Amino acid sequence: MRALRVGLIGSGYMGKCHALAWNAVAPVHGDVARPELAMLAEANEDLARERAAALGFARATGDWRALVGDPDIDVVSITTPNAFHAEMAIAALAAGKHVWCEKPMAPTLAAAEAMAAAARASGRVAMLGYNYVQNPAVRLIASLIGDGTIGQVNHLRIEMDEDFMADPAAPFSWRSEAAAGYGALDDFAVHPLSLIHTLVGLPAQVFGEMAKPWPDRPSPAGRRAVETWDIAAALLRFASGATGTIQVSRTAWGRKGRIFVQLFGDRGTIAFDQERFNEVQLFVAEGPRATRGFRTILMTPDHPPFGAFTPGAGHQLGFNDLKTMECRALIGRIAGEPSVGIDFADGLAIERIVHAIARSFREGRWIASAG
Ligand SMILES: NC(=O)c1ccc[n+]([C@@H]2O[C@H](COP(=O)([O-])OP(=O)(O)OC[C@H]3O[C@@H](n4cnc5c(N)ncnc54)[C@H](O)[C@@H]3O)[C@@H](O)[C@H]2O)c1
Repeated sequence: MRALRVGLIGSGYMGKCHALAWNAVAPVHGDVARPELAMLAEANEDLARERAAALGFARATGDWRALVGDPDIDVVSITTPNAFHAEMAIAALAAGKHVWCEKPMAPTLAAAEAMAAAARASGRVAMLGYNYVQNPAVRLIASLIGDGTIGQVNHLRIEMDEDFMADPAAPFSWRSEAAAGYGALDDFAVHPLSLIHTLVGLPAQVFGEMAKPWPDRPSPAGRRAVETWDIAAALLRFASGATGTIQVSRTAWGRKGRIFVQLFGDRGTIAFDQERFNEVQLFVAEGPRATRGFRTILMTPDHPPFGAFTPGAGHQLGFNDLKTMECRALIGRIAGEPSVGIDFADGLAIERIVHAIARSFREGRWIASAG
């Protein structure tokens, strides 16, 4: 397969992650052609030029439509704020590009549906930035569930907490605007839902809760009312009879990147924390009771694709490596290989749960998540 020519829209936090992944994917994995970093689009020309030079892109533009319409680009990374995803992804797919778009898909279900429909109609690969499912530890957890090590999963709990919006004095940003969506629900809860989707399948019914700890935040024009909810939770019921909860907060002082997963089965338990994401905790109810306990499994080259990054067992991968794995998964799909990841169809199923949780919160009752 010839080298893919990449366009990147947005070069903030996630834009840099995508750029690093496109730069690293060939040397790390060693089995794909080195992508050509063709063009970077930013909010204006000057910023685009500066970021293109810093991140290694050949050309720069202040007009994302010029990037999407460029015949010399095969794949478009979209790393702009949520409100832009639908318009940009649909335009890129219509122009025949493959798309790698950051999560969540879009603030409204209608826009997410339009994105999924555009992906189907285009026949192109359209994947979402659900990096946590790429983790070798998560792949190990999937295989432990699949081979029955902990038996049938009957309950799960996932918490996702960070503190980057915990300070009431933190300035108003696009994350507090209704245009970005509900808030923690579609900023954070989608990540636990991506793990649930990958590990056990999405729930059939949900009961939601949301909270807003600060009513307003400072902005250049004075205090501005916060339009989103920084905390969200949901009770989950699965078709299998299993139950679960997700609890997420962007205002949890001291938590930096916690995604704490507990999966309880009839033979054992798996626990995992994204803040220590190179290890899995496994408890299996066998052997003498007196010596039973959780054991820690450190990630090694025995846990693909860890070995692509380093031959050093236990030598710890990092967040950006998950993005490189996601990039490899995307390239694999473009080449027709199956790979781990969340495409637009999976992403739409996740968005349906998000909107069902929000509806449940509004109406104060259980909601069938497909309805
Ligand atoms: N997968 C993850 O783990 C993860 C983590 C953080 C953020 N995200 C997602 O990534 C997306 C971006 O978040 P972020 O934290 O990188 O935001 P950010 O504010 O750091 O970056 C957004 C960038 O988009 C640029 N931009 C805005 N409008 C533009 C336009 N019209 N054309 C071109 N560029 C434009 C901004 O100038 C900025 O550089 C969001 O959808 C967010 O939900 C995903």
